[in-house]
Amino acid sequence: MQIALAPMEGLVDNILRDVLTRVGGIDWCVTEFIRVCDRLLPAAHFHKMAPELASGAQTAAGVALRVQLLGSDPVCLAENAALACELGAPVIDLNFGCPAKTVNKSRGGAVLLKEPELLHAIVREVRRAVPAHIPVTSKMRLGFDSPDGALDCATALAEGGSAHLVVHARTKVDGYKPPAHWEWVARVQDVVKVPVFANGEVWTLEDWRRCREISGVEDIMLGRGLVSRPDLARQIAAERDGVEFVPLDWQALLPLLQDFWLQARAELTPRAAPGRLKQWVAMLTRTYPEATALFTELRRETDCDRVGQLIGMPFIEAA
Ligand SMILES: Cc1cc2nc3c(=O)[nH]c(=O)nc-3n(C[C@H](O)[C@H](O)[C@H](O)COP(=O)(O)O)c2cc1C
Repeated sequence: MQIALAPMEGLVDNILRDVLTRVGGIDWCVTEFIRVCDRLLPAAHFHKMAPELASGAQTAAGVALRVQLLGSDPVCLAENAALACELGAPVIDLNFGCPAKTVNKSRGGAVLLKEPELLHAIVREVRRAVPAHIPVTSKMRLGFDSPDGALDCATALAEGGSAHLVVHARTKVDGYKPPAHWEWVARVQDVVKVPVFANGEVWTLEDWRRCREISGVEDIMLGRGLVSRPDLARQIAAERDGVEFVPLDWQALLPLLQDFWLQARAELTPRAAPGRLKQWVAMLTRTYPEATALFTELRRETDCDRVGQLIGMPFIEAA
């Protein structure tokens, strides 16, 4: 049974991947989607989206990082996938779930679920282009505006060569509106032989138990739930492994928040860094009352030194 950290563009970048994987319980994580249009991307772009490639495609905690591509041109995706492998990607993941209008308009993400033959062609081409020992995997929603084609899509992806499927159990039109239809994960697993990961609306251990019962699958990918509750994977893993779960309390989380801030300050502009911290703290308010108090103080703050002080930095870091 595996626990994966979901790819989340604009949220789960290398900094948050580093911090979250240090908490424990995560078996692997994925880059934000890398958009492929009509050309071979420069190697520098892959390194920007996945700085971990320079250190064995692993986070500092030793959790493997997969590279996710998004596009619709099978040949171009295949060329870029081959390059990502040369640069060290251990797995290539393909995105067939992005609901963004701009992405769908240029024939990427969830809109491709209307074309199972194209899904099949994309996975087949990418599979052909990358070394045999590197798995190609797919992440899909249930469909564009209805789940009627979900089983055809899943079959197309599996027969094209996907080593496993992650099913975000909603359509593109559902967006992120609860519930996630975990029963569809079971239907998908019934028609494909490759492992299926359930994804969507798992915020707590209880959600995971219900998701496992309804979907019938063991493997899970956690998105917003894990960002809001950084010890969620650790808690699920503890139940899986029959070991004691040690919750991550606010005192234990603070050093991670501070480290996140130090990395954000080092990598982002002084204008952008506070926003990233606030984004994470806002999500932590779901779990920690202390985060609510902190967010109230942080909310309007734009000065980096002051932001550092509010999260209890032991010193005022240089810009
Ligand atoms: C801000 C945000 C960005 C996302 N970016 C990606 C992405 O780059 N690639 C992808 O496959 N899915 C992306 N997703 C979808 C998530 O991976 C996941 O499927 C979805 O959030 C449902 O899981 P959850 O309910 O556990 O969050 C994104 C979701 C969010 C909220």
